[in-house]
Amino acid sequence: MNNNAFDTKALPQHIAIIMDGNGRWAKERGQDRIYGHHEGVLSVREIVNVSGEIGIRYLTLYAFSTENWNRPKEEVDALMELLVATIRKEVDELNKKNVRLHVIGDFAALPAICQKEMQEAIDMTASNSGLNLILALSYSAKWEITQAVQNIAQQVKEGKIQPEQIDDQLFHQNLCTHSFPDPELMIRTSGETRISNFLLYQLAYSELYFTATHWPDFRRSHFLEAIADYQQRERRFGKISEQIQTTEHAPKH
Ligand code: IPE
Ligand code: IPE
Ligand code: MG
Repeated sequence: MNNNAFDTKALPQHIAIIMDGNGRWAKERGQDRIYGHHEGVLSVREIVNVSGEIGIRYLTLYAFSTENWNRPKEEVDALMELLVATIRKEVDELNKKNVRLHVIGDFAALPAICQKEMQEAIDMTASNSGLNLILALSYSAKWEITQAVQNIAQQVKEGKIQPEQIDDQLFHQNLCTHSFPDPELMIRTSGETRISNFLLYQLAYSELYFTATHWPDFRRSHFLEAIADYQQRERRFGKISEQIQTTEHAPKH
């Protein structure tokens, strides 16, 4: 892939990725699914590095969904262990690269060791000002939206807000992602063309990019290709093409 194919000045601020296909990748090689998850960590490292290098501000990685708790216990346990081991191993590198770690999802549902390790890494990287790496763990959008509704209902009950004050902005403030802009680009690897309960509210106007490449094979060139593809699109936000082309956001070619 020609790396010049993407425009460094028109980068998305926020890219979200559904890292899918670890299990199939491993099976194709006659290996255990867990092997695929281990190899997937190498892709995570590379995509985090490239994102930092090219100046992406926010990278959200879907690492474990609420529904993933329903997988066989051995796989869930292995994924939690891998998470702990990876964070422990990578935190110094994240610091060196000025990466700030965040976690979205039902933190309390994670095993205690995992919560502790994640919290330490979040605290250790809290003052970094480079890439914001957001891990979605025990996350599902329906869970997040339900939590937001509960919070807002509680505030109404306590008389802190009036129902008519509930608007897009207030709703957004009550989501786990309240301090991040919505992703301009969402990538899903491994050929599935569904959202699987990921960022349903925030993806309202994201560009979606699906690739057959399994996550452990998804590396720098694939990522840059996805960004180049995104940059070819016209984002109309309900308007018509002529209106877009007269604004400063018009494509430069
Ligand atoms: C994505 O790969 C990683 C997680 C969901 C944790 P999968 O484990 O879903 O791999 P496939 O989709 O079964 O191949
Ligand atoms: C989505 O992948 C969740 C993550 C990548 C963490 P899944 O593999 O769990 O999604 P489905 O079940 O195929 O939709
Ligand atoms: Mg999958």
